[in-house]
Amino acid sequence: MELFRTVTVHTGRPYDILVGQGLLEQLPARLEQLEGRRPKLAIVTDSHVDPLYGQQLLERLRRQGWQAAEFVFPAGEASKHLGTVQEVYQFFSREQITRSDLVVALGGGVVGDLAGFAAATWLRGVRFVQVPTTLLAMIDSSVGGKTGVDLPEGKNLVGAFWQPSLVVCDVDTLGTLPEETFADGVAEAIKYGAILDPELFGLLEQGQLREHLLEVIARCIQLKQQVVEQDERDTGLRQCLNFGHTLGHALEKYHQFALSHGKGVAIGMVMLTGACERRGITPPGTAQRIAACCRQYGLPTGDPAPLDALCQNCLGDKKRSGSRLTLVVLDRIGQFRLYPVEAEALPAFLEGARHG
Ligand code: NAD
Ligand code: GLY
Repeated sequence: MELFRTVTVHTGRPYDILVGQGLLEQLPARLEQLEGRRPKLAIVTDSHVDPLYGQQLLERLRRQGWQAAEFVFPAGEASKHLGTVQEVYQFFSREQITRSDLVVALGGGVVGDLAGFAAATWLRGVRFVQVPTTLLAMIDSSVGGKTGVDLPEGKNLVGAFWQPSLVVCDVDTLGTLPEETFADGVAEAIKYGAILDPELFGLLEQGQLREHLLEVIARCIQLKQQVVEQDERDTGLRQCLNFGHTLGHALEKYHQFALSHGKGVAIGMVMLTGACERRGITPPGTAQRIAACCRQYGLPTGDPAPLDALCQNCLGDKKRSGSRLTLVVLDRIGQFRLYPVEAEALPAFLEGARHG
């Protein structure tokens, strides 16, 4: 097995994504290589990741003579709000972080989104490096520069596009990930296969993710890189990455965020594809294939939430444009289509959606 891969993202400011083993240990050297010097580092992480990797990293950096400080916030989506961003700003202020310094986001998607947003807005923009430690963060949230936080009114409603300067995915960190959190990331991998890559979907369907983990991570990153390069600001093609997400976000909100993002996406993909089959958009059996694939990684494929409540939540989706929502539907596995629906037609569109 190849143990190291680099994917370069050619956005306004190009950057590399490194995928491999043992990369956390190499992080100081990689940062020095990136900068050509040793900038001051502001590490942002959460209360689960800090004892596993944060403290060690901080000690290593300090031993090597780096100026580095760490801010730790309570783990979980409930921390992803403006109050925590304010605390991060106070940390930056205490540490006198300037535009020549570097923010390091060490953790899952919550850390990456929140620290990235703080970096994007502190002094109108300080560069940052993503060091994702969940599968979801490696293959999705750390790639493409979407940063932001939640409001009580909905997820990710405040944010900024701010590309990282480097992304370092040390797959060894996935070894400490709880099975359920790993599965959240698998839902996003299934999404990439379903919309863009039938071969990837086939491999996941055959239950071969663990055997090909590094390859699958690199492939998902590459698929996202190709989409983001064509539509950095999410005005068209990038919406394909939202397959299953409109319903997924609606489910997360319905369950007051006790349902994880990955589980919401898994249910969303199956429900939407079931509705599309009934309308003749997607060939029969597709929802069943997605559901079977999700189930073998322990992901749910249905939810008892009432459809009218979900539709109501969908209307708050930030992808809504005027009276229209753009759904991502499948022509077949590996081939998507953007499908606008009038908001008022959504309940009828989804009616009877499978609760698999
Ligand atoms: P998360 O960051 O909350 O991490 C899940 C849990 O795993 C947390 O408790 C965390 O502390 C713990 N954890 C992280 N790494 C660990 C490790 N190596 N070992 C043990 N525990 C570890 O959640 P997530 O699933 O990584 O990310 C979800 C977030 O990502 C959501 O807020 C979602 O909106 C966002 N997201 C953003 C984008 C984007 O493009 N920016 C894309 C998809 C999702
Ligand atoms: N996760 C969706 C996107 O990055 O556009």
